[in-house]
Amino acid sequence: MLEDEINRKLTETDQGTGCGGLMRLYWQPVALTDELSGNRPVVPVRIFGEDLVLFRNGSGEIGLIDRHCPHRQVDLCYGRLEENGLRCPFHGWLFAPDGTCLDQPGELPENNRIRHFGQANYPCVERNGMIFAYLGPGDPPPLPAVDCLQAPDSHVFAFKGFLECNYLQAVEVGIDPAHASFLHRYLKDEDTDDSYGRQFRSGTGDEDIPVTWIMRNFPAPTIDVKRTDFGLQIEARRHLDDARDHVRVTNLLFPNAIVIPMSSSMAITQWHVPVDDHNCYWYAHFTSYDAPVDKPLMREQRMELYMLPDYKPRLGRFNNWGYDPAEQESETYTGMGMDINVHDQWAVESPGPVTDRRKEHLAGTDVAISRYRAMLLRTMEIAADPDRHGELPLYRVTDGRSLGPEWHDSVMTADCPREDWLAGYQERRDRSGW
Ligand SMILES: [Fe+2]
Repeated sequence: MLEDEINRKLTETDQGTGCGGLMRLYWQPVALTDELSGNRPVVPVRIFGEDLVLFRNGSGEIGLIDRHCPHRQVDLCYGRLEENGLRCPFHGWLFAPDGTCLDQPGELPENNRIRHFGQANYPCVERNGMIFAYLGPGDPPPLPAVDCLQAPDSHVFAFKGFLECNYLQAVEVGIDPAHASFLHRYLKDEDTDDSYGRQFRSGTGDEDIPVTWIMRNFPAPTIDVKRTDFGLQIEARRHLDDARDHVRVTNLLFPNAIVIPMSSSMAITQWHVPVDDHNCYWYAHFTSYDAPVDKPLMREQRMELYMLPDYKPRLGRFNNWGYDPAEQESETYTGMGMDINVHDQWAVESPGPVTDRRKEHLAGTDVAISRYRAMLLRTMEIAADPDRHGELPLYRVTDGRSLGPEWHDSVMTADCPREDWLAGYQERRDRSGW
């Protein structure tokens, strides 16, 4: 149970809020490179309740500026793209990627000077199929040295999807290691398709033991949460027998991303980025520690579930997330198909736009969720006062140290120490060749 005031502190991210102010201190994904690849690279971006336009000018520079022209507030998403900027179709004012007005051709020469009208403009960097923006005050920190941003472009597939709910619901499903035994339960073990589900069902590192079998038969993991430089590391251990444990290690990359295993050689880094208080996008990097990724194939498979241009899902509240009671009896625990993405989508969207946490009752398996909320509250207070930024960790590691985070998912010797699975991660990382 959470007081309404606390719930609002944790979930409100618009201009002027503590949580929004905190999140703006970190690079946030705002678009996929794919979205700027057409012949007119101009897309609307709504983030933290703020409306912006993202564009790539003729010289390849990326701009992220106020969506509304500082002259008379028309929508610059309809602008004319030029070599050095975006030109407003209303009176021809031309804006550079940093928001500087380069030309006001309807004004007499003495009034047509290069100037900045103070319209919002944010620095962007492009890495591995994603465009990140820094919307905070001061100079941006370096991009965090996480695996998905250090791997070469050939080994990372980027994708996104829209969720009709507050960002916190999405993160809180990602750091809950118990739900996989139920929400993603398949009533049969054999692989029947090629999607997320299949990936999820193999990957223990032991071909004889499908993850789905382990999840179904060992539903109550022992959970250990450890604070790290980047956030939280969550170890979920399922004791199979006297000789073996299944160990799955996932991470919270503070403040709004998770790093989790997808198979024995692939990890997913997923940012949950607020659009506004009632909607968010997930942005994911699928990073291979083995061969390069087949991007066209992965994109084709993911597009079966999503629609352009907004990456809105084809299943959702409007069609009951594809729920089929007959399937629920014989195939899956949810009755919502084989794709675990849809299961998670139901889990995050079905409570409503913002979960009423006054009515919740957290249990033992929610330990990472409680820790995460406490970290958010503590950190947003510090974030609000730049003079105190040195006082408590902001989990914004800027010294270039490689952060991993370490992830793991396999059957191990029973009661093996942390060092054993850490070695497993290190071996994968070394073998990756990057
Ligand atoms: Fe899940």
